[in-house]
Amino acid sequence: MHGGAGHGPRDIAIVGERIERVEPAGTIRPVAGTRVIDAGGMDVLPGVIDVHVHLELPFCGTVSCDDFDAGSRAALAGGVTTVLDFAIPGPGQSLADAHAAWMEKARPAVVDYAWHLALTRREHIAEMAGMARRGLPTFKAFMIYEEEGWAADDAMLYAALEEVRGCAGMLLVHAESPRVLQLLVERAHTPDRMRREGARLHARTRPNVIEAEAIERAIRWSETTGGRLYIVHMSTAEGTDLVRAAQARGVPVLAETCAQYLVLDDGVFEGPDGHLFACCPQVKKPRDRDRLWAGVQGGEIAIISTDTCSFTREQKGRWWVAGPHGGYGDWTKIPMGLPGLETLLPIVYTHGVRAGRIDMGRLIDVCCRNPASVMGLAGRKGAIKPGYDADVILIDPRRETVVDWKRLHGRCDWSPYQGMRLAGFPSTVVRRGEIVVEGSEPIGEAGSGRWLPRRLAGDETDSEVPAA
Ligand code: URP
Ligand code: ZN
Ligand code: ZN
Repeated sequence: MHGGAGHGPRDIAIVGERIERVEPAGTIRPVAGTRVIDAGGMDVLPGVIDVHVHLELPFCGTVSCDDFDAGSRAALAGGVTTVLDFAIPGPGQSLADAHAAWMEKARPAVVDYAWHLALTRREHIAEMAGMARRGLPTFKAFMIYEEEGWAADDAMLYAALEEVRGCAGMLLVHAESPRVLQLLVERAHTPDRMRREGARLHARTRPNVIEAEAIERAIRWSETTGGRLYIVHMSTAEGTDLVRAAQARGVPVLAETCAQYLVLDDGVFEGPDGHLFACCPQVKKPRDRDRLWAGVQGGEIAIISTDTCSFTREQKGRWWVAGPHGGYGDWTKIPMGLPGLETLLPIVYTHGVRAGRIDMGRLIDVCCRNPASVMGLAGRKGAIKPGYDADVILIDPRRETVVDWKRLHGRCDWSPYQGMRLAGFPSTVVRRGEIVVEGSEPIGEAGSGRWLPRRLAGDETDSEVPAA
């Protein structure tokens, strides 16, 4: 393959599933029978890793509409070659049960995949070290979603942070302060306010302090226990400031934000389809958006993901009455989450690189390299280097697309980015040496994705994880 992005033109030799050599352009002589892809004029990047998705997730009384089949086709069409989901134990299930259930669910995947394990009961703490040894070293604690049976209380969060320190793992936290949130929701939950304020109530009941206080508390416990902490889907300026200050004093905390927090703001709740945008945490103000971009530039935000959790208009609208000013209904019952896998890279490419906020090297850091190194896939994913999996994407920088959900590849019948003009959709995607997107269309075979055992940096234990 001949082409380059930010490194000058290079030749990349792929043999089987791996990258064999990377040399200056014109140096590698293809052997007979080799397929040569001319990437002249293209940006050539490692496959993107989205570390935060929820495919076919039973949630809010329904199931997210993108499963591992449709979701991974959408992913590939957007240059994402690896996804990390969240295996969430059902009632009475162990972490091992949840892992087995997700293995079954992921069978049709075309992308490579792994998952974090959600800690929903105290008993799960005792399983953590064993699961880390099996290649699942990242765990998730939700501070909210008591009604789903998922919420981890303060004691569990603290104990989990102690445990990740012992087992070279990391705790991912959904940081929203549950009790104050509940109070604000209860106060606003009147027929009159619901009728008058519609979807705006979602934002009005979640002021920034709900996230900031929760992040502050999680950071304090990480500092006390020494357990590695990762704040998922960070949406506020205050959260970003707290993470920066904690990192400066040596607390082992990392943070991700998601594409939606970087390009949308809570004006979406004013629109006729405001209820479609309900997700937790919700998109915030333009000043938060600007601070998050500064965090991506400055390094306090390590990763950009999507938190893809897609629901169709019908699913989103079950509790909603259409009408003037966006209609009304019980916003607390709307299935929470947004589609986004396919638009992640184009958003960061367009609103990050093209807009001059970050350079291509930083895009590769936050979408490829850091996701791999932070989540335990270093040495295998996230870079175009000899010995790595041959996950390579080609972007024609001259091509721009106006987003239209009808042309996206997931099952969702709307997009939060409808009408947005974006560059950065790949024309060719190679996953482990196989061409899985050609002419911008995903062609990979269902079931050809592979589960990835992981091991975090600093794990010197006698792990059962097969070497990458
Ligand atoms: O609204 C969201 N984010 N839905 C998915 C579940 C979560 O909190 O990550
Ligand atoms: Zn969450
Ligand atoms: Zn999520």
